[in-house]
Amino acid sequence: MHAEGTIPVENARLSSAATRDESGKEVFIRARGVTVRFGAKTILENLDLDVRRGEIMGFVGPSGTGKSVLLRTILGLNQKQAGTIEVFGVDYENANDRDRLAVERRWGVLFQHGALFSSLTVLENIQVPMREYLRLSPKLMDELARLKIDLVGLAQDAADKYPSELSGGMIKRAALARALSLDPDIVFLDEPTSGLDPIGAADFDELIMTLRDTLGLSVYMVTHDLDSLFQACDRIAVLGDRKVLVEGPLSTMLEYDHPWVKSYFHGKRARTVVHNGKSVVQSKPNGAG
Ligand SMILES: Nc1ncnc2c1ncn2[C@@H]1O[C@H](COP(=O)(O)OP(=O)(O)O)[C@@H](O)[C@H]1O
Ligand SMILES: [Mg+2]
Repeated sequence: MHAEGTIPVENARLSSAATRDESGKEVFIRARGVTVRFGAKTILENLDLDVRRGEIMGFVGPSGTGKSVLLRTILGLNQKQAGTIEVFGVDYENANDRDRLAVERRWGVLFQHGALFSSLTVLENIQVPMREYLRLSPKLMDELARLKIDLVGLAQDAADKYPSELSGGMIKRAALARALSLDPDIVFLDEPTSGLDPIGAADFDELIMTLRDTLGLSVYMVTHDLDSLFQACDRIAVLGDRKVLVEGPLSTMLEYDHPWVKSYFHGKRARTVVHNGKSVVQSKPNGAG
């Protein structure tokens, strides 16, 4: 038995086997036939999605179509009315406590709003998941939190600052550090670069790519940011008509014949990004890693 919901590291293993796609690649998130309604309003209907190990999956779609709802549904924070969602091969919603804890230990989240607790310092914010899921000494938690601060490219003197003392870009990095607190296999980022200037946003994308390459981190990123989609994402999924309309690499998006997808990926703004980002797009290294 684990006091206060903690789980020893050696028990943080799942009882079921990993989900794999046709090519044998591990699928971290598999959604099938997912339907979510609020009252009479259907937000998602019969939605399918796969997110594989080691990829940066960009999730786009018009505002208010259910991108955050899907994210919350995957995390078990919204009820679904139909369908299944497997996370690391586990049906999280119906799993036993042990498997649920093991899944929670392997994901990190950066929510769209309320990135950090304003009454806690950066160091304390990063330690929130550690306090919840691990039983570590304060000294070890300080050391681990400081490693995360390094990892996301913050200066160490940010550790004792409160969110109100940080710039927008620093807040996003601190929130990412908190999402990385438990060394997750996947992080969920809901519009992580919104509110940042283009340089700050590009730096953040750069950081995400570095983490994918160095830690093998998988990333599920809801974004409006065309730069992120063109430069950072290995694959993209588009939400429209209450489901995933199309899922694949950027080249698939550029060829896809749907009014919103066309205007989004071929609009004036997109052409500017393609033009400016040409070399970056070409040098994108490893597909789904
Ligand atoms: N808890 C909720 N109860 C009722 N309606 C909700 C709830 N959460 C989201 N919605 C509605 O679902 C729709 C999709 O919202 P959301 O997922 O936040 O959009 P976005 O794609 O911009 O992230 C919106 O119409 C929103 O009002
Ligand atoms: Mg949203």
